[in-house]
Amino acid sequence: MTMPQDTLPPLSCPDPPPRPRVLPVAPQTIRQAADLLARGGLVAFPTETVYGLGGDATQPDAVRAIFAAKGRPADHPLIVHLAAPDWLPQYAAHVPDAAWALAEAFWPGPLTLVLPRRATVPPIVTAGRPTVGVRVPSHPVARGLLQAAHLPVAAPSANRFTRTSATRAEHVLDDLAGRVELILDAGPTPVGIESTVVAIEGEQVRILRPGAIPPEAIAEAIAPFGGTLAFGSRHPSEAPGQAPRHYAPRAALTVFRGPPERAVAAALAQAQQELAAGRRVGALLAAEDAPEAEQLGIVVERLGAREDLASIAHALFAALRRLDQTGVEVIVAPTFGEEGLGLALLDRLTRAAEGRVVRV
Ligand code: TXA
Ligand code: MG
Repeated sequence: MTMPQDTLPPLSCPDPPPRPRVLPVAPQTIRQAADLLARGGLVAFPTETVYGLGGDATQPDAVRAIFAAKGRPADHPLIVHLAAPDWLPQYAAHVPDAAWALAEAFWPGPLTLVLPRRATVPPIVTAGRPTVGVRVPSHPVARGLLQAAHLPVAAPSANRFTRTSATRAEHVLDDLAGRVELILDAGPTPVGIESTVVAIEGEQVRILRPGAIPPEAIAEAIAPFGGTLAFGSRHPSEAPGQAPRHYAPRAALTVFRGPPERAVAAALAQAQQELAAGRRVGALLAAEDAPEAEQLGIVVERLGAREDLASIAHALFAALRRLDQTGVEVIVAPTFGEEGLGLALLDRLTRAAEGRVVRV
């Protein structure tokens, strides 16, 4: 796929070609991607969490193209990605001390701060809201692209609306071929689940979407300022994009929520019933629990060791996509505790299950 840059035909916008170019990352491809963004085109690029579908946040037409490519409703705001924390005051009208403390602790990295929007961010980016979600990603390719483009880049996860987030360039291609001009391929994204989204109200930090930064780490970072942590939105409109049907695989997923041993036992019992009824069954399991399930004839995706939540998060979305490709009709999964990354895993699994969650 690596061709010398001068042999590539010029990239045009706004109509993307039927098949995007998937380019391995190299200095000239980053430059090309940055130029494409400046011209109002869309680029899929890796971040440490998931692949993003990026466009220049200051060009309403580019942002409109992001919504169209994803099939995303216009009332779901996008996250604006910045090259460095000191860009923040250009896009946020007010940055409280708690926000600076969080930026200091977690940027560059997978934390999104929801702050009052400045007029430099067109309303289409924030779905007309007075607030804007902002983050400084840590992935070297994302950073290189943001620095080269020298633009704020609006980027949702690079999947079709309601589908599982893309953690590999192939996932982007599967969902968005014909809808994006260029995909920068840097292999699997390291974290595998999206950023934690927080709103800041005075001393209180509210987690609107659990994610890659665990709540415990946020609580620790704000404690010296007397900051407190709260969960969930006060109002449904405060956390758009949290619809129950999200990340959904094609097969019907049921999640068993409870202490690990009980949750796994319940998931396998359900799987056996489904097998007995003649259905093809898949399971998302920690490595320790896989052999027993495989012996039963279940199609197993091994996510990583039970205690290693980072490896489970890293594998989750790709595993859901692979299970779908095997043609299983139902999928079962246990939860992985509710501490640390366990909370974000619980959130993603619950929504992928469209609410089919059994407490055990
Ligand atoms: O890790 C991530 O956050 C990835 C990478 C690409 O950065 N992006 C991502 O974007 O997951 P998206 O669009 O799939 O999810 C953005 C989330 C949504 O739940 C959205 O509602 C919330 O952030 N969000 C963005 N702006 C907001 C705002 N002004 N107020 C409340 N929530 C906001
Ligand atoms: Mg998303």
